[in-house]
Amino acid sequence: MIEITLRNLIDTEKFGKILADICGPGTLICLNGDLGAGKTTLTQFIGENLDVKEYINSPSYSLMNTYNGKYTIHHYDLYKLEGTDEVLDIGIEDYLYSDDVIIIEWAEKIKDILPRDRIDISIKTLLNSREVVINGNGKYFLNLKKELKENDCFRN
Ligand SMILES: Nc1ncnc2c1ncn2[C@@H]1O[C@H](COP(=O)(O)OP(=O)(O)O)[C@@H](O)[C@H]1O
Ligand SMILES: [Mg+2]
Repeated sequence: MIEITLRNLIDTEKFGKILADICGPGTLICLNGDLGAGKTTLTQFIGENLDVKEYINSPSYSLMNTYNGKYTIHHYDLYKLEGTDEVLDIGIEDYLYSDDVIIIEWAEKIKDILPRDRIDISIKTLLNSREVVINGNGKYFLNLKKELKENDCFRN
């Protein structure tokens, strides 16, 4: 488990860059935290650093948007999801086991179908800052752990 504090949006931007840097084919980033925690904001910073030119917004009419940058990136927002079947019906499993990068807001709603190798990021809102807890498995998580250790700026 890794705990970091994002004191402001600049820290969130830095964290987004680090996440983008460790991304590779098949990286799965799962974001959890209340409305307004900063899941979409973090996704935007990850996307920018993966050369996505479009503005990343929460998918409101569909559960997923796809962007092209350094990788093909699928961004899910499962806030309105009622059951896992809904994402299985739109073929999430084909992406979860592909070489695309996947970012899922409210991922805990589908935790039963998530691959073991993934990065789980849980964001808790304080007034301006964010307390972030990171867990995971697999090579991308291990790289992230190493990068964050070398990058002391998020330590309390
Ligand atoms: N340290 C921070 N990190 C991320 N967002 C922050 C931070 N401090 C304030 N905010 C603000 O909190 C809001 C987060 O909104 P959003 O990213 O849409 O959250 P979510 O997708 O989790 O519902 C934004 O208005 C953002 O500017
Ligand atoms: Mg959001």
